Amino acid sequence: MNSQDFDFVSQLLRKRAGIVLGGDKMYLLESRLAPLARKEGLPSIDDLIQVVRARRDERLITQVVDVMTTNETFFFRDKTPFDHLKEAVMPALAQARKGQRIRIWCAAASTGQEPYSIAMMLDQTPALTGGVPVEIIATDISDRCLDRARQGLFTQFEVQRGLPIQMLMHYFTQQDDHWRISERIRSLVTFRKLNLMDPSYNLGKFDVVFCRNVLIYFDAPTKGAVLDRIGQCTNPGGFLMLGAAESVIGITQSFESAQDRRGLYKLTERAVKAA
Ligand SMILES: C[S@@+](CC[C@H](N)C(=O)[O-])C[C@H]1O[C@@H](n2cnc3c(N)ncnc32)[C@H](O)[C@@H]1O
Repeated sequence: MNSQDFDFVSQLLRKRAGIVLGGDKMYLLESRLAPLARKEGLPSIDDLIQVVRARRDERLITQVVDVMTTNETFFFRDKTPFDHLKEAVMPALAQARKGQRIRIWCAAASTGQEPYSIAMMLDQTPALTGGVPVEIIATDISDRCLDRARQGLFTQFEVQRGLPIQMLMHYFTQQDDHWRISERIRSLVTFRKLNLMDPSYNLGKFDVVFCRNVLIYFDAPTKGAVLDRIGQCTNPGGFLMLGAAESVIGITQSFESAQDRRGLYKLTERAVKAA
């Protein structure tokens, strides 16, 4: 791939998904675009890029962006956010919402392990919700991931990463060499396509937003804009969870650290007043 083609694809990714591709990521681009070129019946990546450049084919552009997303995820990833949810967030919300529905949003849910982890955790400990109904919405930019997430079908490798064996036995059934999550847990999560770069998405307001391990792909102004928009979608008293390598410091004034809990943030008064 020549440098003009590399620049073309990096600009496309940045514009469409906010994803910044470092100049050293040529190998990444090539390894991910090669299977797409084959799938499209094109002889090489160069031909694929030619077609994208010449035809401006939306379907193909969407697929280029999709294959360039990094979808690494696993059940109960990093553990700490789920401890925060259990120990601090749900008890505070169950009390504050006084019988009203609690809404949780996984804003870059990949293949579904994160929202399903939340659903299993809440199902396992009903006292956490204090009888308050909970709605879990999970979104991602990748159709490929959303299709897989909706199926709720996981490989042996995937269920061995982070999922306690008791939960595997309780919530999954084996299907050939895969594991299918129970219909009950699957039905607790609604999956929708959503691009965090879209300034006008509207899913209503949430009490908890998980936005983990996606901001790392964006530049600082994009991180700020995405978090400010999420702030506008968060109820007063609501919480945000970021990934272990992510922070709001110097990025947004919509959220601030909460209760000395790493990775947990709450909506600021300033954001509430600005709403
Ligand atoms: C590394 S995964 C993180 C999954 C999960 N949150 C976790 O922490 O395990 C990042 C996800 O962000 C999604 N993503 C990337 N850019 C996005 C955008 N602009 N809007 C929505 N999702 C995006 C990718 O498709 C990918 O599934």
